[in-house]
Amino acid sequence: MFPEDRPRRLRQNAAMRRMVRETSLSVDDLIYPLFVKEGKSIREAISAMPGQIRYSPDQLAGEAKKIASMGIPAVLLFGIPRTKDKFGTQAHKSDGVVQQAIKRIKDAAPDLLVITDVCLCEYTSHGHCGILNDKGAVENDETLDVLAKTALSHAKAGADIVAPSDMMDGRVGVIREALDEGGFENTPIMSYSAKYASAFYGPFREAAGSAPAFGDRKAYQMDPANVREALREVRLDVEESADIIMVKPAMPYLDVIRTVADEFDEPLCAYQVSGEYAMIKAAAAQGWLDEKACMIESLTAVKRAGADMIITYFAPEAAEIVG
Ligand code: PBG
Repeated sequence: MFPEDRPRRLRQNAAMRRMVRETSLSVDDLIYPLFVKEGKSIREAISAMPGQIRYSPDQLAGEAKKIASMGIPAVLLFGIPRTKDKFGTQAHKSDGVVQQAIKRIKDAAPDLLVITDVCLCEYTSHGHCGILNDKGAVENDETLDVLAKTALSHAKAGADIVAPSDMMDGRVGVIREALDEGGFENTPIMSYSAKYASAFYGPFREAAGSAPAFGDRKAYQMDPANVREALREVRLDVEESADIIMVKPAMPYLDVIRTVADEFDEPLCAYQVSGEYAMIKAAAAQGWLDEKACMIESLTAVKRAGADMIITYFAPEAAEIVG
């Protein structure tokens, strides 16, 4: 009799498939990004990210309670300040937009973890992730000080975890030092370790108003062609004592997720970015893809590749399905 090995025997009904399933997606894995805009009574739809909204801090309490009640463990905050300058000073103001938002969320839902994105691109008038020199290039070491101040101001406002996404060399170390000196030895750092210079960030830059006014981010974010370099970036962050490491984007970089997961023991996060979300939403709106099925399939694939947790704009929709 041929064939003797019949994998289909274990696929014949849902219970059997469930029993042999190798990867499971749970609400515990999901982190939900929120855009917070300075001002009052703001709820603006983000057109390139259907279903996502910019909230002013005063509008966050209800949203935070809803997310917490769904069992989603954490949100990730991005700030959109009213004014910007060359140095991104609004990023580390004690009453800045993110700092206000943290307090509102912690008041409304104390157990919901608040992770804050630490970067300058939403706060600089030129839209780059750091301080520019007179040639228009981002100065690594001058930027570090501003990032450390920003992370510390988030911790002071009550952030549970800080997440630097700027890709400057050495930022995890200086942020750790600033947190420790400020008495926040127990605040973990989730580092965007392997963050690629990706075109899939397009919708986010509309959402956060953070597109660079000139040039691109290729001198600090990673070349999409590289994977050994990702290991080098992660190694540096771990040496500087990052608590959680990250690969971003997710689905076009599943090999990077797998390679990093095999090599490192730290919890690994993957970021399913705005463009990945927008593609599924747009195709589903045309009737070309089944939105829910593609959402679950893409998130499961990212976990299968080795991610322990996923930042995704689908978090509430996925939580409803996976529970
Ligand atoms: C800030 C930042 C970006 C994203 C997360 N943090 C934009 C960028 O690097 O240009 C992108 C997230 C997304 O596309 O969903 N540096």
